[in-house]
Amino acid sequence: MELATTLADELFAADALLFAVPLYNYGVSQHVKAWFDILYTDPRVDEGGAPLRGRPALLVTVTGGNYGPGTPKEGWDHSTGWLQRVLTDVLALDLTTVQRRFTLVGVNPALDRFTDMAATMHREALREAEIEGRRFAERAA
Ligand SMILES: Cc1cc2nc3c(=O)[nH]c(=O)nc-3n(C[C@H](O)[C@H](O)[C@H](O)COP(=O)(O)O)c2cc1C
Repeated sequence: MELATTLADELFAADALLFAVPLYNYGVSQHVKAWFDILYTDPRVDEGGAPLRGRPALLVTVTGGNYGPGTPKEGWDHSTGWLQRVLTDVLALDLTTVQRRFTLVGVNPALDRFTDMAATMHREALREAEIEGRRFAERAA
């Protein structure tokens, strides 16, 4: 399929990969899933992904709520684990994940009590993303 070839070529041509993916209704966004479903029909993208092995990649997952350890909805984020599985074990990327949680704090008044926690999470995610960005730049130099 022509589109699969285009998507795979695009991936293979990249020095580093950045995936910024929101959680939609507790699962993988259909856009990212459709991208992967088409990409994976390209015969060059096989399990173990030789063409991409070890390529640096950053996955930034973005969630409106907080699904971290010990939270009431721990285990409801069915996106991050799947993304890590296919990016690491199918595409063989050298993956780092940054999780940016609680983006709906400040939008949904029911979450107002988490304002300080969300601000800390935002700062932390930015710091981690910056460190990773520098690492990418150093590897590319
Ligand atoms: C259709 C839709 C479904 C969403 N479902 C969830 C969800 O299940 N859990 C969650 O924490 N956030 C959910 N969100 C919030 C997004 O994950 C969050 O707002 C993220 O920051 C969106 O990034 P974007 O604005 O760049 O798309 C949803 C947002 C949309 C638009």
